[in-house]
Amino acid sequence: MNQDPEDPLLLDHEADGIRELDNNLPRWWVWLFVLCTVFAVGYLVHYHVLKAGPLQAAEYQAEAARGDALKSAALARFESDLSSLKPLTEPGVLQQGRQAFVNLCAPCHREDGGGLVGPNLCDEVWIHGSNYVDTVKVILNGVTEKGMLSWRGVLKPAEIQAVASHIHTLRGSNPPDPKPPEDPSRPAVPMDFE
Ligand code: HEC
Repeated sequence: MNQDPEDPLLLDHEADGIRELDNNLPRWWVWLFVLCTVFAVGYLVHYHVLKAGPLQAAEYQAEAARGDALKSAALARFESDLSSLKPLTEPGVLQQGRQAFVNLCAPCHREDGGGLVGPNLCDEVWIHGSNYVDTVKVILNGVTEKGMLSWRGVLKPAEIQAVASHIHTLRGSNPPDPKPPEDPSRPAVPMDFE
């Protein structure tokens, strides 16, 4: 009820000195409200009553499954081409490989590759073979029973190639105070510089 002749929109109730203006809601606001309500009813019926569409969690799972399939297809392609791989030489790739090595591998192999828990990667003694493809295979599959992790699914194929190419550049680099070969009686495998 309006009791104020000065302002016909002012209503008569009051709380702590605050009074209400009986403004009309703007048209656009009312329409937006109506549309949202109609949409909400449609949404509720479609997703929760008829269950005709996937909810967010199901959509996420479907997308994650698609991603996993892509990832395993890429890995399978990588593994089928393994034997023809050659070390990469582009400076950008080697830099990326060095960075990955410093971040992920240095705790066990030392930043310069001289070896800590893991073996020296700069000398002529290789446990799992000296050529580039052997290195890629060890990184991919790991030697988990000996403490070398498998990087399959952790690093992308291109990242594995980058880090393996970086290791390839460490050959013969003679870092100071290297870790001695695990088995000194093991004959040195000639280095493969292909
Ligand atoms: C938790 C410690 C650890 C980490 C981290 C680690 N390694 Fe290893 N790595 C080892 C051990 C231990 C071995 C020796 C395995 C054996 O005796 O068969 C090894 C062996 C290797 C070999 C084979 C050496 C040879 O003589 O044949 C390569 C190559 C290698 N690691 C590369 C990597 C790369 C690249 C990374 C990082 C992406 C990495 N490692 C991270 C512990 C580790």
